[in-house]
Amino acid sequence: MSYTIALNFEDGVSRFIQCNANEKVLDAAYRQKINLPMDCSDGVCGTCKCHCESGQFDLGDDFLDDALSDTEVAQQMVLTCQMVPESDCVINVPMASTLCKTASQKWDTTISRITSLSESTLELELACDEACGIDFLSGQYVNLTTPQGDITRAYSFSSLPGANYLTFLIRNVPNGAMSLYLSQHAKTGDKMTLAGPQGSFYLREVQRPLLLLAGGTGLSPLLSILHTLARQENKTPIHLIYGVSRDTDRVKLDELQKFTEKLSNFSFQLCVSDPATAEALTGHVTDHIHPDHLYAGEVDIYLCGPPPMVDSVMDWLQQQQITPTHFYYEKFTPQAAEVPA
Ligand code: FES
Repeated sequence: MSYTIALNFEDGVSRFIQCNANEKVLDAAYRQKINLPMDCSDGVCGTCKCHCESGQFDLGDDFLDDALSDTEVAQQMVLTCQMVPESDCVINVPMASTLCKTASQKWDTTISRITSLSESTLELELACDEACGIDFLSGQYVNLTTPQGDITRAYSFSSLPGANYLTFLIRNVPNGAMSLYLSQHAKTGDKMTLAGPQGSFYLREVQRPLLLLAGGTGLSPLLSILHTLARQENKTPIHLIYGVSRDTDRVKLDELQKFTEKLSNFSFQLCVSDPATAEALTGHVTDHIHPDHLYAGEVDIYLCGPPPMVDSVMDWLQQQQITPTHFYYEKFTPQAAEVPA
């Protein structure tokens, strides 16, 4: 029996380790060549203090109040030198990955499919060369590098974590370097390198209704989140509003329809900002957020889209004087996502 522990570092890098039954997180990390912050290793100094975002664990009872106070325990703070997981956990480490002698992991993958879903969207499917797949938290992204190593871009997974086939929705940017590669040069069997996973936009433990807002290919991480929610057989109300600019940008409507069958409380709406649309709903996502979707603020909102959309949703919430319990967002900026190869 072992548990998967996601370690989220301050610089956005995530690493996943396996923790054996009765093994302390600090020891498991060290065994897997990650040096989490520590000093005494005995529950005395508090140097190894981290925040456990989700999961069950035994905190241990052999630590000093000075190292971890009752208030901190109530805030889900933990000492990794004492904590023994009793389920998979997500732990936030208040330190950069490099200071813990680790970094993003690199993965070799092979292109298994490239599909043009619309004029503006490609779907890339990669087969992971590792038999065990790639762990990530639904909503996170990786940096993809072309076989020549000359182009690297960040893309969010649309698939389920741990699957051997990884999928991504990719905006087909006119004259974009990665778009040109994928639409004109790439072929099945080409190798691509992934580095990651990264990012703080990911599904947290579901404790209240969810409102998901997607703009364009910002749908990608939300599809991954829906896959995970479907695995959890979640009964929580989940509503998605998916906005695109033109009718020709609409993608994955069949898949969204299937989620309404897999998730008993899932519903979605599509809106198109082009007034000439054939769709029933025109305008922007904020035009279609109904008070019923907001539960008087008792809601967690996940938003992924281009920066103007994210900004306008934030302004709209402020104008409506709605403060959601949690508001997670990712600004989807293909150009800004470039990372040196
Ligand atoms: Fe000192 Fe954990 S390393 S309390």
